[in-house]
Parts: sequence; structure tokens; C-alpha cells
Amino acid sequence: MPQPILEVTDLKVRFSTPEGIVEAVNGISFAIEEGETLGVVGESGSGKSQIFMTVMGLLAQNGQATGSARYRGKELLGMPIAELNTIRGGRMGMIFQDPMTSLNPYLTVRRQLTEVLVQHKGMSEREATNAAIGMLDRVRIPEPEKRIHQYPHEFSGGMRQRVMIAMAMLCKPDLLIADEPTTALDVTIQAQIIELMKQLRETSRTAIVLITHDLGVVAGLSDRVMVMYAGRIVETGTAREIFYDPQHPYTRGLLASMPRLDEQRADILETIAGQPPNLQRLPPGCPFRPRCPYAFDRCEPELPLLRNIGAPGRAKACHLERLP
Ligand SMILES: Nc1ncnc2c1ncn2[C@@H]1O[C@H](COP(=O)(O)OP(=O)(O)O)[C@@H](O)[C@H]1O
Ligand SMILES: [Mg+2]
Repeated sequence: MPQPILEVTDLKVRFSTPEGIVEAVNGISFAIEEGETLGVVGESGSGKSQIFMTVMGLLAQNGQATGSARYRGKELLGMPIAELNTIRGGRMGMIFQDPMTSLNPYLTVRRQLTEVLVQHKGMSEREATNAAIGMLDRVRIPEPEKRIHQYPHEFSGGMRQRVMIAMAMLCKPDLLIADEPTTALDVTIQAQIIELMKQLRETSRTAIVLITHDLGVVAGLSDRVMVMYAGRIVETGTAREIFYDPQHPYTRGLLASMPRLDEQRADILETIAGQPPNLQRLPPGCPFRPRCPYAFDRCEPELPLLRNIGAPGRAKACHLERLP
């Protein structure tokens, strides 16, 4: 077996707040292989972002992580910042829903794109500028030689998202974490960005983590899918298994509430009845029980653990053998 690019083991993330401890990530384990695309789905607040913020060393001040997250075998948790900076931005990149999280409004796009290359790859300004123009062209920014000298606010939302993808891809990372990269964009631009990520993956073998609350986005791009609920993985499998044979009631609910072309349903939250649990007071049993149409007596006292239900990598956290 080749060594995974990223291996996360029993990761827990807690936040201290004036109201108490928030249990955001509750013992998560998974691995990502070279060139693989992993879709991470779940409603807002299920802990998707915090897993990868922790991996990138971007956990908020009031947060604390335990467990392990290894990049090519090297432990990232507790790694000194200087060492972490040799990995993130270069070999491991992250793009966010809001491009302004990574773009500096006061610097031209050129300054921001070339900085990583000069720092991480030791290129001259001139070489870096040429490489940056080439990448802007690849993400289909028109007239890149001219636009590279502009500031982020001179770009539209979709264009800014492309600039951020270009910035993340410039160093040829072997792991790209994309956190809701298309959520703020309209459907047409969304499709273009997904297409772009597909092409980048094919030409560079970059492993991609695609975080989204939208199963439709995951469908087109992912090899494997990890479904999260209340800071836990509730189901994993290949994209095909998750879409054609969902075995956790929550996954089934997510699929049933996927917007179809003939209707404009904006939000999945409305179609699975009830609310996600309060992460400050997680119930002892299955966190999905209060919303689950199949709940039975065992679900209240006993937390279902993630267990294998077929091929390797196919697992769910549900007491039911098969869904009715
Ligand atoms: N700094 C923080 N302090 C307290 N709670 C936080 C903090 N950051 C995130 N959380 C909580 O952690 C939970 C998981 O958040 P997140 O990973 O961002 O969810 P997702 O990305 O799935 O929408 C949420 O309940 C969120 O409110
Ligand atoms: Mg998030």
C-alpha cells in the first residue's frame, strides 16, 4: 500500500465558549490517497470545515484538537509554524467559499500570485510572473497579462474564485482542500469551476478534498464520499454507492432533498424535518435519532459506531442492518 497523502486518526475538535464546550469534531478517521477526490458532505455546522482548518493549522484560538493528522506520515498537529509553512501554501493548499479570505484587497493579483512562487519555489519575480499569467490563462481569466496587474475588487465573484484557485494551484500542491468553493456562485459559474477543478486534477494528479453541503456538486467530482452529521462520519463509500445505495437514513434524506432541475429548492435544511443537535449537549445515543424516520429502541441509549457494511471503505454508523 502506498502511503496516503493525508491520514487523519481519531481527530477531535473542541471549542471553549462562554456557554460551554462545543464538540465540533468527534473522533474522525479517514485517509486520502494520491490523486483521489474525497467529497465531504453534511449540513451546515456538521464539522466539515473544522476538520480541515485543524489540518491546515488554522484552528481558532478557543479551539483544541486531539488525535492525529499526518501529511505523508508527518504529524501536523502541534507542528511548529515554521515547519507547517513549508507544507501549507505549497504542497497543501486550501480554497475557501469567500475568496477574500485568501486574497488581500490591498495587493495586486500579481503580487499575491508570485509571492508563493518566490517563497516556495525560489523563482525570480520575472519567472513567477510568467508562471502566474500562464495559470490565470488556464483558469480562463481573459487577458491575463493585463488583468494580473489589477486588484481583487476589480474582478467579479466568479473571477475572484478562479484567481484563488489559480493561487492554490500555482505551487502544484499534492493536496487541495476546497471548502464550499462554489457555494456563493450562480449555477453556470459553479459548473465552470467544477469543470476547471476536474481538468486540474487530470493534468496534475492533485488529490482534492471537496467540502460542500450540496450533494450535486460532489456527484460530478468525487471518487469517495464521506457524509458527516454532528461532527461524526455517518456514512462513507464510493460516490456510486452513496448515490445509488445510501444506507444511512441521513444520507437518504440528503439525497431525497437534492434540488432537481425542474424545481428550485434552495436549501436542504428544510426538507429533513427537525434541527441538527446542539453540539454543547450531544445526546448519549444516535445524534440523528430525533429526526430519523427509522429510529427504534436501541437508538436512544446506544451510539451507533461506524462499521463496515461491505467492500473496504464502505461503512455506516447506524444500528439498522439495511434500510427498509
Ligand atoms: N471558534 C469557534 N468557537 C465556537 N464554536 C465554533 C468555532 N468555530 C466553529 N464552531 C462550531 O463548530 C461547529 C462545526 O463548524 P464547521 O466545521 O464550521 O461546520 P461546517 O463546515 O460543517 O458548516 C459549528 O457548530 C460551529 O458553530
Ligand atoms: Mg464550513
